Amino acid sequence: MTDFTFITYGGLPDLDPDDALAANELRARGFSVAVAVWNDTRVRWDTAGICVLRSTWDYHLDVDVFLSWAESVAAVTTLVNPLPLVRWNVRKTYLAELELHGVPTVPTRWLSQGTRVDLRRLLAESGWSAAVVKPVVGLATYGVEVVDGSEAGQAHLSQLLDRGDAMLQPYVDSVRDRGERALVFLDGHFSHAVRKAPFQVLAPAGLAGETPCEATPEEIDVARRALHLVPGSPLYARVDLVADDAGRPLVLEMELVEPSLFLGMHAPAAGRFAQALARVGRKGCP
Ligand SMILES: Nc1ncnc2c1ncn2[C@@H]1O[C@H](COP(=O)(O)OP(=O)(O)O)[C@@H](O)[C@H]1O
Ligand SMILES: [Mg+2]
Repeated sequence: MTDFTFITYGGLPDLDPDDALAANELRARGFSVAVAVWNDTRVRWDTAGICVLRSTWDYHLDVDVFLSWAESVAAVTTLVNPLPLVRWNVRKTYLAELELHGVPTVPTRWLSQGTRVDLRRLLAESGWSAAVVKPVVGLATYGVEVVDGSEAGQAHLSQLLDRGDAMLQPYVDSVRDRGERALVFLDGHFSHAVRKAPFQVLAPAGLAGETPCEATPEEIDVARRALHLVPGSPLYARVDLVADDAGRPLVLEMELVEPSLFLGMHAPAAGRFAQALARVGRKGCP
């Protein structure tokens, strides 16, 4: 029986080196830590110890398969983050819930799979000259495209809607100048923040142009308000913020499943994460 298993995907079978920092901190505290690929059928999850979701960066390709896998793991051991948080977080429709409860979020039009949407009309109706379309289930900029009323944008949206639900948002300029800010929370406490490069592609933490940054008190407050609305207590969480035209923070995305935590960009972070996991290890539940 292993104490912990850090879970990754087939494209990064040895784990992101950034997550290995936390695994090593756990080992230094006397715990055994294994690494496993989530859809490797050879893994015995009932003897894998506490299963910590990390770089499962292909789940969006078949979210139902991923969720049933997560259910099967949660049925035999402790899953971190817990299943209700995973279920809640894999579809970006949680943004509507945040908005309903008064958390500032990027305005979003929700578009259902199989419907025919006239992009040009929708843009005119919304008053957005440039916008971004993306799938409701996605990660690492998969399927995310800037669109105007052109044929190419319409074709992209139609293709997304053939495969699943999609969403349309105004293009938020601050992703390029101020930059998107990823606020990392460990065990319920704000830990550190990172500036992300725009339209960043899938890469291990720190290799896609991210840099450490200072979060403002207003950003931390918005992120905390969003975290109060999630169904449970995440051991790790990331709240990604952009800014509106007046510079006020808006939630672009919340990450409770597979976020890079940029542990290597803030000296105490890996130890904090390991400490929180060690506590779960001693008590058996988060
Ligand atoms: N409304 C938007 N305006 C400007 N850029 C956006 C917008 N939505 C997404 N992006 C860019 O696309 C990236 C990926 O989109 P995001 O919503 O974070 O989904 P995911 O990371 O799950 O693919 C963001 O990091 C940002 O650079
Ligand atoms: Mg993102």
